[in-house]
Amino acid sequence: MTQTLTLRRPDDWHLHLRDGAMLRAVLPESARDFARAIIMPNLVPPVVTAADATAYRERILAALPEGASFTPLMTLYLTEATDPADVVAAHASGLIAAVKLYPAGATTNSASGVRDMDRVQPVFEAMAEAGIPLCVHGEVTRAEIDIFDREAVFIEEVLDPIRRRTPGLRVVMEHITTADACAYLRQGGDNLGATITTHHLMINRNHILVGGIKPHYYCLPVAKRERHREALVELATSGFERVFLGTDSAPHTQASKESACGCAGVFSASVTMPCLAQVFEAAGALDRLEAFASLNGPAFYRMAPNEARITLEKGEALVIPPRIDTEDGPVVIFDPGTEILWRVTG
Ligand code: DOR
Ligand code: ZN
Repeated sequence: MTQTLTLRRPDDWHLHLRDGAMLRAVLPESARDFARAIIMPNLVPPVVTAADATAYRERILAALPEGASFTPLMTLYLTEATDPADVVAAHASGLIAAVKLYPAGATTNSASGVRDMDRVQPVFEAMAEAGIPLCVHGEVTRAEIDIFDREAVFIEEVLDPIRRRTPGLRVVMEHITTADACAYLRQGGDNLGATITTHHLMINRNHILVGGIKPHYYCLPVAKRERHREALVELATSGFERVFLGTDSAPHTQASKESACGCAGVFSASVTMPCLAQVFEAAGALDRLEAFASLNGPAFYRMAPNEARITLEKGEALVIPPRIDTEDGPVVIFDPGTEILWRVTG
């Protein structure tokens, strides 16, 4: 007998769509299974002002395939020059759903990010007042901090002080990768949420480094030890309400990944829902997949969950295409490295 699973249509609370030819190629991969996504603003140049976000939103809508039902939820890229009034107005008009904080130099296209948190304190205060979520890339960038420790150190040295100084600020810890982040989230109050990616639920750092370097598993924050992956799975599948799916699906061309200085990013949009069904089934928590993928995110963002449904079916091993083609060159699809028996059928 086929096993089927029907869920409210999921949303992706952290997604990179890029622009131009890449946008046109990757957008259908998300629009197929997801109703909405929080769109990351780290373009070159970044999406900094309400005017930038309006124009980017138009380009995304224009790139949607015929008949697609997908709503991009826009974000602004926080800089030390961000005007609090522009942020508040952009949120009040419904244009943006959140603001993104990249510590300068933490990751892809983060050069315009924040160096000195004091300089954006007026923005944090205006956001707290207006209830606007701050999506945080939580890694310190100091050269002396080991890359595997950068998330835990950020929580202690940067995030916790920001939250103490601005108690009403609503924060999403993006793409958490450590047991430390899971613990910090659990003890945070209603103003603290977190996203977890598909790949961080499936790979640990050995997948990147054992038996040869695997650039397609490299992203930031980098995958950690197995015990951290286990903590993430435990949290995601537990039914805890303030954690939700953010794929961080981040396309780079195969050539720019397979390079002497390969880009960070895992492109998982195409396979996320089958992979998540596999992870949740293995944890004996298929009944909690809907909370993680379709309910907890809208609840945190104070939006209604989607009315439409998707259906997943369990059957023969899913054949995952190795890549999608784009005018800029092929983009390799996340390989979960294990048989996936689920597929989205409707
Ligand atoms: O791996 C990553 N890729 N992490 C990020 O934070 C950014 C993203 C990208 O834009 O490629
Ligand atoms: Zn990201």
